[in-house]
Amino acid sequence: MSGATTLSLRKASKVYAGATILQSIDLDVQEGEFISLLGPSGCGKTTTLNIIAGFVRPDEGEVLIGGQCVNDVPPYQRNLGMVFQGHALFPHLTCFDNVAFGLRMRNLDEATIRARVAQALDLVRLNGFDERFPRQLSGGQQQRVGLARALVIEPRVLLLDEPLSNLDAKLRRAMQSELRAIHTKTGTTMIYVTHDQEEALTLSDRVAVMNAGRIEQLDTPEGIYRHPRTRFVADFIGSSAFLRGEVGEKRSDSILVRIGEAGYVAVPHYHQIAQGSAVHLGIRSDQIRIDTGATASSPELSLQGRIVDRAFAGSVSHITIELTDRQTIVVHLSNPPDDAIPGAAVHLGGAVANWMVLP
Ligand SMILES: Nc1ncnc2c1ncn2[C@@H]1O[C@H](COP(=O)(O)OP(=O)(O)O)[C@@H](O)[C@H]1O
Ligand SMILES: [Mg+2]
Repeated sequence: MSGATTLSLRKASKVYAGATILQSIDLDVQEGEFISLLGPSGCGKTTTLNIIAGFVRPDEGEVLIGGQCVNDVPPYQRNLGMVFQGHALFPHLTCFDNVAFGLRMRNLDEATIRARVAQALDLVRLNGFDERFPRQLSGGQQQRVGLARALVIEPRVLLLDEPLSNLDAKLRRAMQSELRAIHTKTGTTMIYVTHDQEEALTLSDRVAVMNAGRIEQLDTPEGIYRHPRTRFVADFIGSSAFLRGEVGEKRSDSILVRIGEAGYVAVPHYHQIAQGSAVHLGIRSDQIRIDTGATASSPELSLQGRIVDRAFAGSVSHITIELTDRQTIVVHLSNPPDDAIPGAAVHLGGAVANWMVLP
């Protein structure tokens, strides 16, 4: 990444039939960056990509490419590559001709076209497939031809809209690492739309988490996972438990939050929360620890409750606990104690640094 901004959205908004679909989206994509738009179905990811591509005009705001507003530039003049769900291969054209299509549109000479198609097919590891028709290819191979077709024009930015969603889990993972490799090799700036959080976290330099037409948080995968800024992000990425509490005593290294009669939780001292105010806390489900002994084995395990359910879920068990103040949380444990069964009284808690204070 060179640090230059390749593409920006400035307060881009879209209304369909009176409903606001996108609300003032701001986004700066750096040159060479792999950035994901991640969010549930219907949150506006495809609309955002269509605005960038030029298929949809924003009602307000601007699309900038290389610092220039391109609102009035048609899609084919924006020099963007696209791998969209709807953009299937041409069934009557061979692999070679599918990939060559964009170059022929640009009136390049045949020798250049042959060289660049060969290079693009090599990049997606499909050398020797030139004369095959799409029906003679597997789903993964067709997807790779689609990628080659988009990359061969050397686009300023490659836009990908859930390109792997029709593939089975194993092929999907193989294609994910291939995409990473292609990104590293070509340095092409990529904007990747997905509703799959794991996919976004493993592939991206940065992730924009979208909810109901807004970007709720834009950060590195690690930042998104470790420091979600909103409850939506904490809930959507990974699995979290949430508690309501009241801010109590402030100490030099932590702030105590009272969870009713269940006890208190110590959260990091840097949070700007006023004594006596109500707050929402979150913690990753796999960062909660429990202890079934009569007394807590660590001061961190400062909450009390009772197990109401225990469910085996493969690598972890899900333990549902009702706290003494009646709030319920679900804990994911890889090695739950044998006596952590419904009815058992437990002490529970988590390290100070792992508690999130949410608005
Ligand atoms: N052309 C359109 N006309 C009316 N509503 C639309 C149109 N395109 C998308 N929408 C609506 O906008 C919202 C966001 O859609 P979309 O961007 O496709 O979401 P996503 O890709 O995140 O699933 C949805 O509620 C969808 O129904
Ligand atoms: Mg979509």
